[in-house]
Amino acid sequence: MRKKIVAGNWKMNTTVPEGIELAKAVAEKSAQLPANVGLVVAPPFTHLAAVAEAIKGSRVELSAQNCADHEKGAYTGEVSVAMLKSVCCQWTILGHSERRQYYGETDGKLVEKVKLALSAGLGVILCVGENLDEREAGKHFDVVAGQIKNVLYNFSAEDMKSIVVAYEPVWAIGTGKTATAEQAEEIHACIRSVLADKFGREVAEDTTILYGGSCKPSNARELFAQPDIDGGLIGGAALKADDFIQIALSF
Ligand code: PGA
Repeated sequence: MRKKIVAGNWKMNTTVPEGIELAKAVAEKSAQLPANVGLVVAPPFTHLAAVAEAIKGSRVELSAQNCADHEKGAYTGEVSVAMLKSVCCQWTILGHSERRQYYGETDGKLVEKVKLALSAGLGVILCVGENLDEREAGKHFDVVAGQIKNVLYNFSAEDMKSIVVAYEPVWAIGTGKTATAEQAEEIHACIRSVLADKFGREVAEDTTILYGGSCKPSNARELFAQPDIDGGLIGGAALKADDFIQIALSF
């Protein structure tokens, strides 16, 4: 049985004290979740050490939002996978559409980042998703399949045990416009079949695929009820502990 996961991507929000408060509230409320639901928070880099402390002893796991594409050295402003490990990070999000759109993240760079993250023992939440023009041109299946192939086809079935895919249609992120459960499900099923082509059915069936894009307590239940949607990557609604937990209770 693949894992169900709800992950909160805090993006560039909260100060460190606010982040500690939010993490503590999430950790406290997480006790009410069923055992088969994994909960992950991804605060900004500056918060990681303090949030690690705040969630200690709870079931909440810690993720970064990005990592460097080099191991170490003269890369001003970057944060390495070893640094993330040293503050007890278990995960990193990679390839978020905001990184692709504003910071020139390419599939090629993502291959390097995924390699480094896996070699450090970090789990990877790899984001894929089409933009509005691509959706309107009917290219969404090809775009998402292409992103999966360009990045994940460089890895092994064994590596896939540490990789979660997050499908986030760019037009639904932060816009209040959610993909319908049917729109999300058909892409999730497509992702699973693209994974099956390379890694076999069993690996594909075991891979957790999250939906992201204006997921909130009012629509999570319908999304998570779809056979190929295994949870969510939550932006705005992850900034309120009650909403975040409510979403995680929606399976
Ligand atoms: P949103 O963001 O929930 O605010 O739309 C999701 C994401 O970008 O991960």
